[in-house]
Amino acid sequence: MDINYQALADKYGTPFYLYDFDHIQNRYTTLKDAFAGKKSLINYAVKANSNLSVIAHLAKLGAGADCVSIGEVQRALDAGVDKYKIIFSGVGKRDDEIRAALEYDILLLNLESEAEMKRVEMVAKELGKEARISIRVNPNIDPQTHPYISTGLHENKFGVEIDMAKRMYIYANKSEYLNPVGIHFHIGSQLTNLEPIRESCGIVADLVRSLRAIKIDIKFFDVGGGIGVVYDDEVTIDATAYTQIIANETKDLDVTLLCEPGRYMVANAGAFFTRVLYEKNNESKRFVIVDGGMNDLIRPSLYDAYHRIEAVMVEGEKTPADVVGPVCESGDFFGKNVPLPPLQHNDLVVVHSAGAYGFSMASNYNTRAKSAEVALQDGKDRLIRARETYEDQIRLELPYLQK
Ligand code: LLP
Repeated sequence: MDINYQALADKYGTPFYLYDFDHIQNRYTTLKDAFAGKKSLINYAVKANSNLSVIAHLAKLGAGADCVSIGEVQRALDAGVDKYKIIFSGVGKRDDEIRAALEYDILLLNLESEAEMKRVEMVAKELGKEARISIRVNPNIDPQTHPYISTGLHENKFGVEIDMAKRMYIYANKSEYLNPVGIHFHIGSQLTNLEPIRESCGIVADLVRSLRAIKIDIKFFDVGGGIGVVYDDEVTIDATAYTQIIANETKDLDVTLLCEPGRYMVANAGAFFTRVLYEKNNESKRFVIVDGGMNDLIRPSLYDAYHRIEAVMVEGEKTPADVVGPVCESGDFFGKNVPLPPLQHNDLVVVHSAGAYGFSMASNYNTRAKSAEVALQDGKDRLIRARETYEDQIRLELPYLQK
């Protein structure tokens, strides 16, 4: 498809995010088809990209949602996700979040500690409801990914150990207000190797078998998210191999398979467009200063993550440049030593594969307005989030200003 990115930049201003909805659809159907013949539900991890239109697009295709705050649950509901397809995970939930989740009657609350289970039981009792729960098991498997996005080791704060999980299931099974119907693990993000997933599935499937032996019937087997994508030249997980391994490890268990992909659904579908303000050279370095900053896309600064960067429709000999933003931090960069042609004021630069954990991690640091978000679907572009204004940013402060 021939897309005139310059025209989009003129129409929407810069910086902006562009998401290819056809690509998202493709990802969803590829994964869903790979589960063919199995009972399955794909719970899109809303944190990866929580734009309402993105969630709605996936909801129309049949996706559920994996949420980590009541705000995300509300987004999922507002976007049209069926309440019985929503799960609420996370290590720390406030009582009011638990209460709201129970009132919304979503599919599952995923619990990560004994103390949390007791709170959920208490809130459910107050409401006179039974809470459907799953327990996040920490299988102590090294996912072989970046330490910041690795979550399945005992040194990480997530989930509970197998023995503790078993004790919790026994307790929950006896409780009038808890109904343990699911089991969950999530060992990390941007996984490129299937072996840790296979091992974790095996460990957790064994736990399901031992629970069945004591008449605790687990219906939902949730393998979390984590499927890695290609940012550079990674060789990553194939959807069919992924689902086959999961199906294989659970083949004797009559369970519905749940997974929670975030990045896989949206990362490669998105790009961040920013315009060149100017170039600056010192004795040893060439800097390209653009109008987007780390507040818009923090992955390079936070994780040293690689995103391919290109100039749009600019010819010329390429030399290495650091692509940096206007934020007053040395960590405000999108790429270092990026081969780029000579660039002029207003030339357009694209940062690829920015659809996941891009806008959703954006902030207003330096009182910078959050960028616009644009969808591309069937060859047509449309705004799905307007650029913030200064007024949007001060709205909650202004009423309290005393001069
Ligand atoms: N389920 C749970 C319980 C999670 O904690 C996560 C991500 C997911 C699903 C979705 O994982 P995915 O399929 O997207 O890998 N900000 C980091 C990623 C943090 C991931 C946190 N948890 C980044 O930009 O790389």
